[in-house]
Amino acid sequence: MPYSNEIITLEQFIVDQQALYKDAGGSLSRIFRSIELAAKVVNRDVRKAGLVDILGNQGSTNTHGEDQKKLDVIANDRFINALSKSGEVSVVISEENDEPIFVEGSEEEKYIVAIDPLDGSSNIDVNASIGTIFSIYRRPSSSKVANEKDLYQKGKHQVAAGYVIYGSSTMLVYTTGLGVNGFTLDDSIQEFCLSHPNIQIPTDGKIFSVNEGNYAEFPQGVKNYVEYCKSKDKETNRPYGARYIGSLIADFHRNLLKGGIFMYPPTPKTPNGKLRLMYECNPMSFLIEQAGGKSSTGTARILEVEPTDLHQRVPIFIGSANMVDLAVKMYQEAEVATV
Ligand code: AHG
Ligand code: MN
Ligand code: MN
Repeated sequence: MPYSNEIITLEQFIVDQQALYKDAGGSLSRIFRSIELAAKVVNRDVRKAGLVDILGNQGSTNTHGEDQKKLDVIANDRFINALSKSGEVSVVISEENDEPIFVEGSEEEKYIVAIDPLDGSSNIDVNASIGTIFSIYRRPSSSKVANEKDLYQKGKHQVAAGYVIYGSSTMLVYTTGLGVNGFTLDDSIQEFCLSHPNIQIPTDGKIFSVNEGNYAEFPQGVKNYVEYCKSKDKETNRPYGARYIGSLIADFHRNLLKGGIFMYPPTPKTPNGKLRLMYECNPMSFLIEQAGGKSSTGTARILEVEPTDLHQRVPIFIGSANMVDLAVKMYQEAEVATV
């Protein structure tokens, strides 16, 4: 695109790209506008979190039995409200709601959005990066109200996905299947401005991100790969650096820009890992593939996984293509050896 030094706002960029991703009626653009608005409001909440009483637990638990942080609940409300008002979204699937939310008055609309309104919530109280993840589908059925087939779509059918990271700066990174672009919020004008056009993840990286505290529970192949990352080898620049924040968004964002692999493998206690398919693994996998990387459950491409539960978990190996290939190879070889 022939951009020079001028500022390109997210809104301008979306308008320019609209024709390319066949958003003729502007529906997707309107959804993006609502996400952008909610992101700005949540950004304000996050920046104020230490000053006002929105830190700490809400005193309730979500569908996974986890404590809901106050900011989880606030972010969830903001995004659901904004998406509901877009007039384009019939159903919102949220980490924080057991059941899908059928938007009143918009039941017939054509889009379904899955969200993790606040990812990395254990990091809120300690001032580390957190974020919002979103995944957008068009519903294939023409029924009046979205049906099961509309809700349970494979990740490869996403029409757009992205995240907002509330870090040392606030960024919105998204894809509509035409590459990955990143926008940084300029506080002074409250606009997301194109700062990272056409992000590509390096094919080889030097960072591995995994919760090594769970090492004893890792499958043998994952243990082997972790040992590989930590062992010395001049030719392949090992040992690699270990980086793990405990916010998927923050770990993913760093690895996307620098190259690396993030893993949340299966363990006997969590046979499907920890991360959720619909609003964590699928959107991140769409982004990583668009950026030239890879994403796997260890046995299958994440985007090919058939959803059976809107809150289901899947193991994940995601990041630089060569790193994911090797990790998956070592995982599979050890699995075969133990049969
Ligand atoms: P959420 O805050 O939305 O529940 O997600 C937390 C997730 C994810 O962000 C992170 O990668 C992972 O939990 C960390 O898990 P461990 O603490 O088990 O390593
Ligand atoms: Mn999350
Ligand atoms: Mn969350």
